Amino acid sequence: MSQPSKPTTEASVAAQPDTSETGDRAGRRRRKSAATVNALDGIGGLGAPAPDSFLSVRDLRVHFPTDDGLVKSVDGLSFDLSRGKTLGIVGESGSGKSVTSMAIMGLHKPGTVQMTGSIRLDGQELVGSSPEAVRLLRGKKMAMIFQDPLSAMHPFYTVGHQIVEAYRMHNDVSTSVAKKHAVEMLDRVGIPQASSRVDDYPHQFSGGMRQRAMIAMALSCSPDLLIADEPTTALDVTVQAQILDLVRDLQSEFNSAVIIITHDLGVVAELSDDIMVMYAGRAVEYAAAEEVFERPKHPYTWGLLSSMPRLDRARIDRLRPIPGAPPSLINVPSGCPFHPRCAYADRTGGLSQSQRPPLEEKAPGHYAACHLTPEQRTAIWETDIKPTL
Ligand SMILES: Nc1ncnc2c1ncn2[C@@H]1O[C@H](COP(=O)(O)OP(=O)(O)OP(=O)(O)O)[C@@H](O)[C@H]1O
Ligand code: SF4
Ligand SMILES: [Mg+2]
Repeated sequence: MSQPSKPTTEASVAAQPDTSETGDRAGRRRRKSAATVNALDGIGGLGAPAPDSFLSVRDLRVHFPTDDGLVKSVDGLSFDLSRGKTLGIVGESGSGKSVTSMAIMGLHKPGTVQMTGSIRLDGQELVGSSPEAVRLLRGKKMAMIFQDPLSAMHPFYTVGHQIVEAYRMHNDVSTSVAKKHAVEMLDRVGIPQASSRVDDYPHQFSGGMRQRAMIAMALSCSPDLLIADEPTTALDVTVQAQILDLVRDLQSEFNSAVIIITHDLGVVAELSDDIMVMYAGRAVEYAAAEEVFERPKHPYTWGLLSSMPRLDRARIDRLRPIPGAPPSLINVPSGCPFHPRCAYADRTGGLSQSQRPPLEEKAPGHYAACHLTPEQRTAIWETDIKPTL
């Protein structure tokens, strides 16, 4: 594997040809945090994982052949995540967040998907591994809180039985000890009368309770990597706070690595060390959380921040939705995939329409994929965006 290329600054940015084979260019080590986006060198080589990386994703591509064409749901994603750190992934519906998570968990059905690149978990390569080998990692090595609770639970078994089985697979304990643990976990996620509800079937739980039970299941084995895909959407505010506390407890007790996927920027801000903004199956911005909130550099991130309600935003009438809709992942727009929706696309002398911007370091440890010059970006941020947030 090649060594990571040296950090490039914006002055050295060269536009890349618009080809899906090109990938993101020139991986750079994050300076401020443990997670790293190591983009590609443009001809298929990959930067080495960060030394302390627990999860290393390199040039991940997850494509689905369909009758309408090849759906490029994830198209060249690279990042590292260390133990004890949290990566927040944000992006509009359809940007590839869940497909990425399912790829890490090995849950895409073989035969329906084309998956290339590399996913290394604690040094073990998952892409191309047998489904059985990956299955053995689920539970203790990695666990996921799914967007849809029903996809995580078997309808024919009681909730308690499912937690007990998962727990016993990775812990040498009796059924009664495992059941006690299951009741404790259900109690911790706020299931009332957990000791009796433990014997209910998933359909006997309300939607919110199913969500909580699934969270209990995911946390029950204290996974080394937890992927939480929209973990709090179906839950009321009090339970949301409990769940986020549980994730934090898990992290401090077991030094777990956490990926949190959510539309809720408040949740991301509270939990994440780093944030990766995805658009059309690619990373368009990546930096420490504070950087993304305080000094965002990509027009799409500006759009997200302007369009999402935040507790600290004084006036809700300032919300400005991003015009247009996310692109087709079968016919991804040429050049920058965001160009049909970007208010600044006409300021780049045609580059936005013709050449894909590589993900590059725009400030120390802060990466974005955009053709705007530093002067243009600063001027737009200072005059158009910052005063409106
Ligand atoms: N099995 C599949 N076959 C074809 N296309 C798929 C498949 N699974 C996902 N996709 C497509 O991949 C794209 C990315 O989907 P994904 O579920 O990752 O989006 P997301 O970012 O999680 O969105 P949301 O915020 O709505 O959950 C979508 O356009 C989706 O329709
Ligand atoms: S490259 Fe062009 S279209 Fe894409 S975000 Fe930057 S300015 Fe907008
Ligand atoms: Mg999703």
